[in-house]
Amino acid sequence: MTDLKRIAVVPGDGIGPEVIDAGLAMLKAATEKRGRAFEWVHKDWGAEKWLREGVGIPEGGLKDLEENYDAVYFGALGDPRIPDMAHGREILLGMRFGLDLFVNMRPVELVAAEFCPLKNKGPDEVNFIVFRENTEDLYVSVGGNFKKNTPDEVAVDESVHTRKGVERIIRYAFEFAKSQGRRKVTLGDKSNAVRFGGSLWQRTFKAVAAEYPNIDTDHFFVDVLAMELVRRPEHFDVIVTGNLFGDILSDLGAGLVGGLGLAASGNLHPGKIALFEPVHGSAPDIAGEDKANPIAAALTGAMMMTYLGENDIAQAIQESVQEVIAAREVTSDLGGALGTKAAGEALTQRVLGKL
Ligand SMILES: NC(=O)c1ccc[n+]([C@@H]2O[C@H](COP(=O)([O-])OP(=O)(O)OC[C@H]3O[C@@H](n4cnc5c(N)ncnc54)[C@H](O)[C@@H]3O)[C@@H](O)[C@H]2O)c1
Repeated sequence: MTDLKRIAVVPGDGIGPEVIDAGLAMLKAATEKRGRAFEWVHKDWGAEKWLREGVGIPEGGLKDLEENYDAVYFGALGDPRIPDMAHGREILLGMRFGLDLFVNMRPVELVAAEFCPLKNKGPDEVNFIVFRENTEDLYVSVGGNFKKNTPDEVAVDESVHTRKGVERIIRYAFEFAKSQGRRKVTLGDKSNAVRFGGSLWQRTFKAVAAEYPNIDTDHFFVDVLAMELVRRPEHFDVIVTGNLFGDILSDLGAGLVGGLGLAASGNLHPGKIALFEPVHGSAPDIAGEDKANPIAAALTGAMMMTYLGENDIAQAIQESVQEVIAAREVTSDLGGALGTKAAGEALTQRVLGKL
């Protein structure tokens, strides 16, 4: 009986392959040093394949992931040659929706006060986590155009919320809070203006919260929530919200901790395969220049290690990130002079030193 873990590696487009190469080298070295059995299987899903073959995820690809893999380690998608991002919708939304990965988990943890654009806020003040619903809302592609390309064009996107979908993400946020000793769960919605979906979120939040009497609850309309995250981030602990609001709030969170080069995320469905990806996109403006910060991909790898029960490796990565930042062994977006590859190697050396 082996406890081999199989990981599908999808580097994607732009800086995706650069940061995933760096993160993967670190993860391979760490798991080998720990004597863990991991198999890393590359998938060439991305713009090149799409342009060459018209294929996003090959037939049977999702089923194969579900049946034969423990996790996906994903880079980013986005290519100027595909301006409507058709391949991104098929591949990334295809995996999130097709695998029913309803939890999008985005921790916002400041590692060094100097990276926070807010005055007098340090790691103690900026430490919260956003749980974004990941399978519904405006992203379901329900809608259409008519009178397209005329002055009378009409475009409709439906915002879909189901009791099942809303309840399971809210419950996940409370379960996370309970298991991690967190004190409070905050709901962000727009129930003052968006009546039907907003009311569903409100009622479901109250019903689920009643099952967790030891966890405080809190509510903000999402516009005020955005303001409060900037004004007093220390107020927040666990935030749960819908797909669109979560998309925006979690990038705001990335801005509070030093930008996209440091932000990691996971797409989960307990008991199923999970997908881990840096929050950033393919950054065509710096792709191929060895400039991309690999730390977001490394922290994404740490999140994946925690999920797979490799807590010592995850902790070694997190501590090493703090150390490379303190030592300025980082890329130029964080004020360092290293390229992607060298910054990844510096991180790997520190991780290995801790295992
Ligand atoms: N999950 C995804 O795959 C995903 C997410 C967001 C955007 N996108 C796609 O990526 C493409 C570019 O989008 P964008 O420019 O809006 O967002 P982006 O995240 O790619 O880049 C935004 C800015 O942040 C910088 N940046 C991003 N990651 C960085 C890193 N690791 N190190 C240093 N700097 C970094 C970029 O250089 C750019 O200036 C688009 O096609 C978009 O649709 C994909």
